[in-house]
Amino acid sequence: MEIVIANESHFKYAQIICDTIAESAKVRGTGIAKRTPEYIMKRLQNGNAIIALDGDKFAGFCYIEVWGNKDFVANSGLIVHPDYRNQGLATKIKKAVFDLSRKKFPDAKIFGITTGLAVMKMNYELGYRPVTFSELTNDPEFWKGCQTCKNFDILTRTEQKMCLCTGMLYDPSEKKIEPRKLNGKAFQRLKEMKENLFLKKKEK
Ligand SMILES: CC(C)(COP(=O)(O)OP(=O)(O)OC[C@H]1O[C@@H](n2cnc3c(N)ncnc32)[C@H](O)[C@@H]1OP(=O)(O)O)[C@@H](O)C(=O)NCCC(=O)NCCS
Repeated sequence: MEIVIANESHFKYAQIICDTIAESAKVRGTGIAKRTPEYIMKRLQNGNAIIALDGDKFAGFCYIEVWGNKDFVANSGLIVHPDYRNQGLATKIKKAVFDLSRKKFPDAKIFGITTGLAVMKMNYELGYRPVTFSELTNDPEFWKGCQTCKNFDILTRTEQKMCLCTGMLYDPSEKKIEPRKLNGKAFQRLKEMKENLFLKKKEK
């Protein structure tokens, strides 16, 4: 398995990356920001993405997005092809994209929003902490990405204060957090509480 910084030679994988992201969201039944192949190609081109390949087969992907005045970067679009899951590949891709973010944007806060327990675990172990949305970027372009998510009405209803996703943040100016493991049960419970609160209201 090769885990590398992507470039133009990886354009041919843009379509399978989009399809795998869309298919996985459908299977999970969760919201997701939709990405087009053109959008992915830009990320492949600018040296801000990590791709994992098994020979010439696509295995996984994640990219860095820069927000605000380079004050914030997000590690987004993490996807591992179903054939390569549960072997620790996402953890390796996440670490690679985190290290790339720290190298290219050493002063930026790194953040993400996610409903996925696997992603929360990985972020937590990298030193992220859960935060309210008010601690994340207020760049409207970032929040526009949520418009294609099926839960966007919740974000609108709460005036962008909360949604089903949990915000997580790594702040390089804070004291270095030692590697640690996440208590997944607490996050699972939080997710269930938010779903009960927001999705029931939505159905009424
Ligand atoms: C989520 C995803 C990236 C995980 O990829 P992976 O290569 O199987 O992950 P890893 O093997 O590195 O596992 C990382 C950790 O997450 C856990 N994990 C993996 N899949 C999980 C799941 N569906 N639910 C809960 N935990 C999960 C693993 O047990 C592991 O935890 P551990 O370190 O305590 O053992 C992959 O399943 C995927 O692409 N899913 C669809 C897209 C998606 O959900 N992306 C995230 C968008 S927010």
